Amino acid sequence: MSFTQQHKKLERNVTLLGVGAFIAVAIGSIVEIAPLFWIDNTIEKVDGMRPYTPLEQAGRDIYVREGCYTCHSQMIRPFRDEVERYGHYSLAAESMYDHPFQWGSKRTGPDLARVGGRYSDEWHVQHLKDPRSVVPESVMPAYAFLAEKELDTRDAAGHLKALRAVGVPYTDRDIDMAERDMRAQGTPDADAEDLADRYPKAQVRDFDGDPNRLTEMDALVAYLQVLGTMVDVNSAAAQQVLASEKGR
Ligand code: HEC
Repeated sequence: MSFTQQHKKLERNVTLLGVGAFIAVAIGSIVEIAPLFWIDNTIEKVDGMRPYTPLEQAGRDIYVREGCYTCHSQMIRPFRDEVERYGHYSLAAESMYDHPFQWGSKRTGPDLARVGGRYSDEWHVQHLKDPRSVVPESVMPAYAFLAEKELDTRDAAGHLKALRAVGVPYTDRDIDMAERDMRAQGTPDADAEDLADRYPKAQVRDFDGDPNRLTEMDALVAYLQVLGTMVDVNSAAAQQVLASEKGR
């Protein structure tokens, strides 16, 4: 029987074709999946990554609640146009403490993975209150009410505990201090105690321009200002390349 005839037989017999297709897919799957059981970690560790502070985490929760992710992604792909526009491509480790992650697949607005430090707090507050006052052609909705809404600090510890249950390394002290940390980071006169030791490089200041109150605006701006700033990406990416070359 020639090859064509053999193939004809396979194509005409549904059972045989099914079995053949199953074997082909099974081999493909094993090749893809099996190595994952032998490597310890799929995410390369990088220096500088730390869990979010309670205030940043509260801002992140507001970001999710308000559906900012329906228009904004947080993952810069390693393509020249993206890197030139948004900055260094995202590393896997940079979203290792994100539950749920905010990579996204749709961009009505720009990617926000590295928006931290790009604008002043005042710019963010003005933009969130009235986007068209700073970017006339913007189609982004206004979120002025965030500046009026007092931030609910009561369940700060609960949120951290829940995140710890899914693997974010918050310590007992982080959890005990959660509510105080949250207030201290957004209130300039408060005693921040050891906040900066437990959360290196945490930015402590009044974010929303209203030093007397801790609002949802404070939390959201604190979150936006930390995005993409924890890791020194150029040295981290270089380290990873070196490590993978050593492994070869
Ligand atoms: C309907 C889609 C939409 C939603 C929802 C939305 N945005 Fe935007 N956003 C945009 C667009 C479009 C732009 C670009 C124009 C501008 O700067 O306003 C933008 C710009 C931004 C920028 C400036 C980014 C840069 O690099 O210039 C930030 C920061 C931002 N949005 C944050 C948010 C946050 C936080 C939320 C949720 C509270 C949100 N956006 C919700 C559409 C949206």
